[in-house]
Amino acid sequence: MIASSTSGANRQKEIYTDGFAGKLPIVPIDPQKLEEQAAAKMTTQARGYILGGAGQESTIRSNRTAFEKYKIIPRMLRNVSERDTSIQLFSQKYPTPFLLSPIGVLEMVHPEADVAVGKAAASLNIPYIFSNQSSKPMEEVASAMCSSARWFQLYWSKSQELVASFVQRAEACGCSAIVVTLDTTMLGWRTRDLDLAYLPFMEGRGIAQYTSDPVFQKLLEQAEPAANRQLTFQLLRGLITMVNKYPGNGFFTKLKSGKPIKAVQKFVSIYSNPALTWSDLKFLRQHTKLPILLKGILHPDDARMAIDYGMDGIIISNHGGRQVDGSISTCEALPKIAQAVASRIPILLDSGVRGGADAFKALALGASAVCIGRPYVYGLTLAGQNGVTEVLRNFMADFELTMGLAGCKNISEITSDTIV
Ligand SMILES: Cc1cc2nc3c(=O)[nH]c(=O)nc-3n(C[C@H](O)[C@H](O)[C@H](O)COP(=O)(O)O)c2cc1C
Repeated sequence: MIASSTSGANRQKEIYTDGFAGKLPIVPIDPQKLEEQAAAKMTTQARGYILGGAGQESTIRSNRTAFEKYKIIPRMLRNVSERDTSIQLFSQKYPTPFLLSPIGVLEMVHPEADVAVGKAAASLNIPYIFSNQSSKPMEEVASAMCSSARWFQLYWSKSQELVASFVQRAEACGCSAIVVTLDTTMLGWRTRDLDLAYLPFMEGRGIAQYTSDPVFQKLLEQAEPAANRQLTFQLLRGLITMVNKYPGNGFFTKLKSGKPIKAVQKFVSIYSNPALTWSDLKFLRQHTKLPILLKGILHPDDARMAIDYGMDGIIISNHGGRQVDGSISTCEALPKIAQAVASRIPILLDSGVRGGADAFKALALGASAVCIGRPYVYGLTLAGQNGVTEVLRNFMADFELTMGLAGCKNISEITSDTIV
């Protein structure tokens, strides 16, 4: 059962009681306002990178409209005084059906970045999927989370040895599942970033998993020195950031080693691998005993293939509309995928989840859990760790109240009968 301190009704009471004493919530409750306030606080580059999507951003819009097409049909007089939002995933029990999607380069909005998110997630026992493009090495975030659940998200690079090293580090720092993101074997055509001609990785941001990796360090030793370019003010600024971002002390020592520049160059040349095929998954299976989930699945046949290739779960995702403009929304893709999977493996879903009702609808359509993406980044932007915690508490309260008010006492009662 839901502990009274975390129940939706108590969260409501806390907000209203604080308001009576003149204290407003530290982050807006309204998801639209949350986005707007966070966007206003971000740099132009961060705003473009975080809020932006591919092409004309039609996928971002359809991720929302698809959720709105489904309607919940609340049922009455069902004694919902005791409500249980807990779920089971890979034999682990979690208090809510929420996880945190992997989101890279969080240093663009807050210096504590992934560490702040990890602490917030741990305080609520919500699993956090570490990004391959994080701003902090996975070991640092894991140690800030104590024993709380974390998973690791992998981008499959051109170096198999590096892939194996990331997975081995993830196991060593207590990650309990590996999520392989399949939809980003190349970067999508991201209009806002292209207009600003800005990619954070070029400044050495979001490559902490690489620069902290022994295999990547070995690859750097073989890297060619950087080609000379005409020095401009902008280039100089970028180089300074790049050197500062590189681990270790002593600006000039790092500069003279040439490593910060080599690291960015090496990263750019190996980070993605468009040649990947289904048969490559065997390599991963051989390198870990952890459950493996494929992220980016949108077609029922790919969901079937995931099962055929021995995968343990899938995440239906279109990367928050950042990869294929005009792609099917995740909520539209879910029913057919759920039918194809027929409960054989868990289905998770992200992209466009903005409130408790979205989570309810996804569960009713056959998902086992949902992942929260951009909204926690907005909380981080506005108020660091506390901002993330507040956003997550609001999601939990909203979901728990929606579930109870719809006449469901627990997750198993959220069936396809509850929506049209
Ligand atoms: C700024 C940003 C960075 C992201 N970085 C990653 C990443 O490193 N790895 C990954 O698998 N997905 C990444 N994603 C995609 C998210 O995991 C998730 O699929 C997406 O945010 C869901 O959409 P929503 O935030 O609109 O709900 C990123 C998304 C954003 C917005």
